[in-house]
Amino acid sequence: MSIIRIAIDGPSGAGKSTLAQAAADALGCIYVDTGAIYRTIGLHVWKCGLDPANTEGIVRELPHLQIELHYDNGQQRMVLNGQDVTEEIRLPEVSQYTSSAAAIPAVRAYLLEMQRELAKTHSVVMDGRDIGTVVLPDAEVKIFLTASAQARAQRRMLELERRGTPQPYEKVLREIEERDWRDSHRSAAPLQQAADAVRLDTTALNFQESLDALLKIVQERGKAHEAI
Ligand code: DC
Repeated sequence: MSIIRIAIDGPSGAGKSTLAQAAADALGCIYVDTGAIYRTIGLHVWKCGLDPANTEGIVRELPHLQIELHYDNGQQRMVLNGQDVTEEIRLPEVSQYTSSAAAIPAVRAYLLEMQRELAKTHSVVMDGRDIGTVVLPDAEVKIFLTASAQARAQRRMLELERRGTPQPYEKVLREIEERDWRDSHRSAAPLQQAADAVRLDTTALNFQESLDALLKIVQERGKAHEAI
């Protein structure tokens, strides 16, 4: 089997990470969660006390960042300047800082090569917002994974509860809608479906149904490219 690159894009809370990780495990690929890489920058911006609107200040910080991806039993871990920040980047405060930092072209350019490098030597399932459109435009399989904002808010709420940081539904929904708007209206690599991506709407699907549907798309598309 030759290298296969599976790009999964879609809005926050569509279940990309969990599904992409499960698909990578099933296919024997590396899973690259690019949102976690952006979150690492968002965490740094937050910790520095920078205003998320301070574009110049954020760009000035980039040379001081050393971001590494480590794999522990197939699980991606984020290391920032030598410190494991895998859990910290999930704090709700980090999300808004990340979304602002991700809209800055210099931040995106800074991370582009790192993401492409990872897909050069390994078969990957890579998820994010611009993987099929910008990072890996020639990926063998592209999937646009989505679900209604309400379904995504519901899932996110359950996830926050599990993590011990519960939030009210209305607040979660509002934040998701705000983030959707920012991620899809920014001028630098906005969230959009690649012309050659298969759309998978998981609003009415449970986890197993979503995974089955995703693997079916990979089989069909991968075969067409003789990658599987
Ligand atoms: O997938 P996530 O919610 O962990 O992503 C966090 C933020 O990073 C989100 O606001 C979108 C942004 N992001 C991006 O702009 N491009 C990517 N490839 C991945 C994430």
